[in-house]
Amino acid sequence: MNMLKANFQINKLSRKEFLKKISFLLFLPIIWLWDSSIKQIIKKDSVDNSILIPSNLPAGVSFFGKAAVVKENNKLEVFSTSCTHLGCRIKQIENGKFICPCHGSEFNLQGEVLKGPATKPLRKLKYELTSDKKQIKIINA
Ligand code: FES
Repeated sequence: MNMLKANFQINKLSRKEFLKKISFLLFLPIIWLWDSSIKQIIKKDSVDNSILIPSNLPAGVSFFGKAAVVKENNKLEVFSTSCTHLGCRIKQIENGKFICPCHGSEFNLQGEVLKGPATKPLRKLKYELTSDKKQIKIINA
């Protein structure tokens, strides 16, 4: 009787292990699907980093997160607000200069370095007018 019970315990244990292994194998496709869908979402976000802003901007400098738009004499120039020193976000203008809040680099309204530690000019961003001409699409901000 004891022998029979012991044999049954072994069978029951191996059945549990078998089910554990099977359930792990059943989860593999779910994990694969989840992983591939997350990768698609990340890829989608990295492809289109454009910003839409109104086209009727006032003259001067306007900040839109990752982009600063300089409008002078009805001409637009768009710059990344990421400082070329260590990447801090530039959010202010003082005396007609972009000022980095982290280490004090200064750039003129053409994006050129006036004062370090930054040595490279601000990155110019491409833009285009939307078909209805009501908005400006800043590309790869
Ligand atoms: S990150 Fe802008 S000056 Fe250092």
